[in-house]
Amino acid sequence: MSPPTKNEPTNDRALLLVNIRQLLTLRSPSGKPGPRRGPELQELGIIKDGAVLCAGKKIVSACKTKDALRDPWIRKNRKKIVEIDCAGQVVLPGFVDSHTHPAFVAPRLVDFEKRIAGATYEQIAAAGGGIRSSVEGVRKAGKKLLVDHVLHALHQMAEQGTTTVEAKSGYGLTVDSEIKSLDAIRSAAGKWPGTVVATLLGAHVVPKEFQGRTQEYVEVVCREMIPLVARRKLALFVDVFTDRGAFTVENAERIFDAAKNHGLGVRAHVCQLSETELRPLLHFNVASFDHMDHVSDGDIAHLAKRDTVATLVPGANYFLGLEKFPPARKLIDNGVAVALATDYNPGSSPTTSMPFVLSLACTHLKMSPAEAISAATVNGAWALRLERKGSITPGKNADLAVFDVEDYREIAYWVASNRCAFSVLNGEVAASRPQ
Ligand code: NIG
Ligand code: FE
Repeated sequence: MSPPTKNEPTNDRALLLVNIRQLLTLRSPSGKPGPRRGPELQELGIIKDGAVLCAGKKIVSACKTKDALRDPWIRKNRKKIVEIDCAGQVVLPGFVDSHTHPAFVAPRLVDFEKRIAGATYEQIAAAGGGIRSSVEGVRKAGKKLLVDHVLHALHQMAEQGTTTVEAKSGYGLTVDSEIKSLDAIRSAAGKWPGTVVATLLGAHVVPKEFQGRTQEYVEVVCREMIPLVARRKLALFVDVFTDRGAFTVENAERIFDAAKNHGLGVRAHVCQLSETELRPLLHFNVASFDHMDHVSDGDIAHLAKRDTVATLVPGANYFLGLEKFPPARKLIDNGVAVALATDYNPGSSPTTSMPFVLSLACTHLKMSPAEAISAATVNGAWALRLERKGSITPGKNADLAVFDVEDYREIAYWVASNRCAFSVLNGEVAASRPQ
């Protein structure tokens, strides 16, 4: 048995991980599909001294090591199987980072210093900083530069246990540069062994040249961007930043209508800066509402009856230096399906680390480590409507994260140090650091 080397090709050989101290399968406790809620989030389906067999990019079985080693097919084919001794480590489904903005070219260091000196996110945006200040760089960038940036982020994510990523456009804000951004996301995805789900975020903010003409820009999104993106199959979802200073609920309804008419799913940034009324949007079968800091009690009650996921992104609260964090406890205790994501972006959350987000979820959102892991795996998959991700179940995609810890709670405990030993992305092994 040999440890994996960096990006060791497993070709189409079967892969067997053995001697896993805790194998977190995240198997559905009730057997029913759909996101996990309330007490279900605590159920990790742990197998002690576990083994996972993967073949053809899929999970074949998850069981005790001793049972795997007795299996007649494994015994017969042992020499042909790539076998990895996980020597007491913890294995879980690869993280599903269901909210990221990787198509940008530069950090926003001026905004960073202004905020340290006391300016708020909205004050910085009003003074010409914020999202609009990333636009020029993206408009000027060649596609190759954008591909490099997206791919770099994807590799960093895999090094920290993430195997599926939602990636938004949203810093181009013209038809050409939004398409260029989505094209770059597609090219980067083609060079990465994990899974990428693209989202058009043409409605991130109203660009400078449309100032005072929001409705006209909304029509560009609806009549030009969405049809082109749908025709070229460049994205599965359309997102709208529906909040103070960005787009209204009426704008979002118009954009969601266009998205649905073109066969695209919908999701939205909501309640980050102020309360966004969610009820008028619910009938669009929204995949996820993200941020949710200022969600109302009435909307929480509506969401509890639906499969729309509330995706919490506490990295943004942390990086913006906010005292308040999203009301995870209230959402979970009222039965809303909750996911966790990085919100990786240059303005509010420049982190690619899901373990850091898990840590924040525990320390600041008061989620238990088990709840945080469910939210970052199976519920992240549901937020992207990916049935084949998020749990270690036979038939699902071979996406695994192997952590160099003895107990799964350590994944959220060791702050800002990467304990991920390696990830398996659609059956391919990618090591985090030299073994
Ligand atoms: O999710 N709120 C809108 N979008 C991002 C911020 C993007 C940026 O500042 O560049 C977010 O926090
Ligand atoms: Fe975001």
